[in-house]
Amino acid sequence: MRLLVTGGCGFIGSNFIRHILHAHPDDRVTNLDKLTYAGNPENVRDLERDSRYAFIRGDICDPEIVDRAAKDADAIINFAAETHVDRSLLDPGAFIKTDVDGTRILLEAARRYGHQRYIQISTDEVYGSTAGAPFVETDLLHPSSPYAASKAGGDLMALAYAATYGVPVIITRASNNFGPYQYPEKLIPLFITNAIDDQPLPLYGDGLNVRDWLAVEDHCEAVDVVLRKGTIGEIYNVGGGNERNNLEITEMILRGLNKPKSLIKPVADRPGHDRRYALNADKLAALGFRPRRRFDDALRATIDWYRTHESWWRPIKSGEFRAYYETQYGQRS
Ligand code: NAD
Ligand code: DAU
Repeated sequence: MRLLVTGGCGFIGSNFIRHILHAHPDDRVTNLDKLTYAGNPENVRDLERDSRYAFIRGDICDPEIVDRAAKDADAIINFAAETHVDRSLLDPGAFIKTDVDGTRILLEAARRYGHQRYIQISTDEVYGSTAGAPFVETDLLHPSSPYAASKAGGDLMALAYAATYGVPVIITRASNNFGPYQYPEKLIPLFITNAIDDQPLPLYGDGLNVRDWLAVEDHCEAVDVVLRKGTIGEIYNVGGGNERNNLEITEMILRGLNKPKSLIKPVADRPGHDRRYALNADKLAALGFRPRRRFDDALRATIDWYRTHESWWRPIKSGEFRAYYETQYGQRS
């Protein structure tokens, strides 16, 4: 297959391209990425010499660039998005632009070129928080943050293009990913890299919010299964089956690095902070997919990756990230 992957210089997109080129020797991948603060050419540096891989720098909100990138593809897999909840509280407009309107522009291209598949990479955050049963795909959407609302908007736009124009849409909704190449604004890489430097770990609220953690490699395999075996028009939850609260995650990281609990710094809570995400992934299991990685092993491997890849994250933390972090935690502490 000839795939157009958007957002392939980000965390999950770069892992996904690496997975595809390894698992499917006959596939070709074009990566369309704007290189926002979160997009990093270093994430795909090892792929540059592969003749099956091509990179186009561009914005999914730009119809001309999207047209050029999409013309020869058989399928689009849309990872490109503004993705960080805390940043969406500071600048919601950027999220609506990319996550809703950018999605619409990609859907237009899929419509124009009659692609075989359009995969919209969505998130469990569109369902909001649950105190009870894990969410199923038919549950109502209750997004809490501008990020989650923008992703929900992207999902609804994709479903509208499927119903109105027959675009062969499939949506995946995954839980919290972790692993190599994740921008260190997110909980796990932030806390690992701060702990390595003996810096405080800013834990929001009471630290008891729960997320369902999914190794990024498992997520990539799930999207691949959905791409090849999923039913057009359907939505698939991708859960890790690893619900943990933030304090548990923090303590695991500190133990893994042999650092003291005194590094934990309780800070003011995130406004609108969802208490618990949980997914029922039976529908994806019926396609033959279950996550393969054990949580403890995958977290240990992730800690090791950041310990051994300081040359990847130190330039990030001393660049754009620094001003963001100072604003963010200046407000909270
Ligand atoms: P990320 O922030 O690491 O990467 C996003 C990438 O998209 C970057 O390379 C960035 O440059 C690119 N991008 C942003 N705006 C763009 C635009 N207008 N045009 C072209 N490229 C643009 O994100 P991630 O964590 O890898 O998430 C990828 C996708 O998976 C997102 O759609 C996100 O909503 C979804 N998702 C993420 C998680 C998670 O835990 N990280 C879980 C579920 C779903
Ligand atoms: O659930 C899937 C979503 O997971 C994705 O759609 C998002 O793109 C991704 O960013 C992630 O969203 P979260 O808000 O769950 O992830 P984050 O890493 O920002 O936070 C995880 C939890 O940790 C959350 O309860 C907030 C808390 N937290 C986070 C940070 C950055 C802290 O306590 N301190 C922090 O400094």
